[in-house]
Amino acid sequence: MTDLAQQLADDKVPSELAQLVQTLAEVSQSISAKVRLGALAGVLGSAGEQNVQGETQKKLDVIANDLLKEALLRLPQVRAVASEEEDDVVGANHGGAYIVAFDPLDGSSNIDINGQIGTIFTVYPARDDVACDSDAQFAQPGRKQVCAGYMLYGPSTQMALTTGGPSRLYTLVPDQQKYQLTEAELRIAPECNEFAINMANQRHWSPVVQGYIANLQAGADGPRGKDFNMRWNGAMVGDVHRVLMRGGIFLYPANTQSKVHNGKLRLLYEANPMAMLVEQAGGSAVVGEQAILDVDPESLHQRVPVILGSGAEVQAFQALS
Ligand code: AHG
Ligand code: MN
Ligand code: MN
Ligand code: MN
Repeated sequence: MTDLAQQLADDKVPSELAQLVQTLAEVSQSISAKVRLGALAGVLGSAGEQNVQGETQKKLDVIANDLLKEALLRLPQVRAVASEEEDDVVGANHGGAYIVAFDPLDGSSNIDINGQIGTIFTVYPARDDVACDSDAQFAQPGRKQVCAGYMLYGPSTQMALTTGGPSRLYTLVPDQQKYQLTEAELRIAPECNEFAINMANQRHWSPVVQGYIANLQAGADGPRGKDFNMRWNGAMVGDVHRVLMRGGIFLYPANTQSKVHNGKLRLLYEANPMAMLVEQAGGSAVVGEQAILDVDPESLHQRVPVILGSGAEVQAFQALS
């Protein structure tokens, strides 16, 4: 078995970046331990505050955010961090080569039901032409990511990671407190027969999305000529993990409701890292015609419609646009 440290060395990941990934992995082990204990650790329920996007924070959103932020700001190679739970960029070390953004706890509505939750992260090179704590540090398209991944706190705790090469999957060995490589190269089959979308929003979708999903629902008798199944996790981490493991298409489209008119998911710390993992596994991740990774960011917490998964299926969606 190959552990995370060994694989990062084999992949010739620069030592400062490897150390940063190890720090993320260590923090995720603390988060995982708290998640396992749940009510016994007093980590369930609401924290009573709102984040910058108007979402009520859960205790675990705040705990995970504080653990990640404190650990990363101690690293000399980290110039700045950004988080779903922080209004602004937090500047750190002026000489740092990297900036890190994260969704500390993805799937907050699953916390209190013992459902799948996770942590999503991304690393970019720091910019020398703007201030350490400027939003502009993070105004870089997803193509510039040097590393992206997530931890999934499910029946086992796993970490999917790419440092520019293949998307790899590691599994936490709890009594050793380390991640072991369990899938050296994730590959998403181009064809699939499973889709993931929040059907409760159907009446708010564009005609293109309505038409596409209607075709899937028509099954073998419809224009697609095959049956599709549906899954919806309520946590992007869980849905994208399923797509990486057995293919499928995941959609969080734009919506005519003003609250989520540009989709619900955030470009910086949800869409971009997942898009990199999916592309490095042979799948596609798009906003209409454009690859998510090519979107030029406009603001730190910007939302973006997300369509990702099996390549041929994403193309079938785009063909209707
Ligand atoms: P977060 O818990 O980090 O705010 O993200 C929640 C997101 C994402 O994980 C998931 O795909 C989506 O919200 C689910 O939204 P619905 O409420 O529409 O199911
Ligand atoms: Mn949230
Ligand atoms: Mn999230
Ligand atoms: Mn979150």
